[in-house]
Amino acid sequence: MKRHTSLQPLSRDHHNGLMFCFRLNKGLEKKIDETRLKNYVDWFYENHIQEHFSVEEKLIFPVLGSEHELIKTALEQHQHILALFNNKKDLTATIKDLAIQLEAHIRFEERVLFNEIQLHASEEQLNTIHIAELETSCRVGWEDEFWM
Ligand SMILES: [Fe+2]
Ligand SMILES: [Fe+2]
Repeated sequence: MKRHTSLQPLSRDHHNGLMFCFRLNKGLEKKIDETRLKNYVDWFYENHIQEHFSVEEKLIFPVLGSEHELIKTALEQHQHILALFNNKKDLTATIKDLAIQLEAHIRFEERVLFNEIQLHASEEQLNTIHIAELETSCRVGWEDEFWM
């Protein structure tokens, strides 16, 4: 399904999220020191995830409402993922899990939730969603390219 223009900034930011997961997996594969990975995780949390989740929760999820099963699932996933971002113990295992959970969440939104929103929201409703462009590159501001 073609993404409605009002949802495109979030869809574009999903690419950044998938790239983040890919990089973490690379880092784990290369056995990069976990504190280096955690620094990147913390940076991504501050600069991408907080804003992304809060935009979805404030502007997108209300279209279907908090009683909708897909929204309940999405909110549970957000909580779980935020807890992983903030976990300071068992770093390697946590980072591994984070990469899996975040990727699954993004796929769920792109393949299921956003399609459902487009099917159920009226054109008028979709047009009232104004999302400022989110940061377009997750490279900006982060120098330690441990995945290379
Ligand atoms: Fe989300
Ligand atoms: Fe998302």
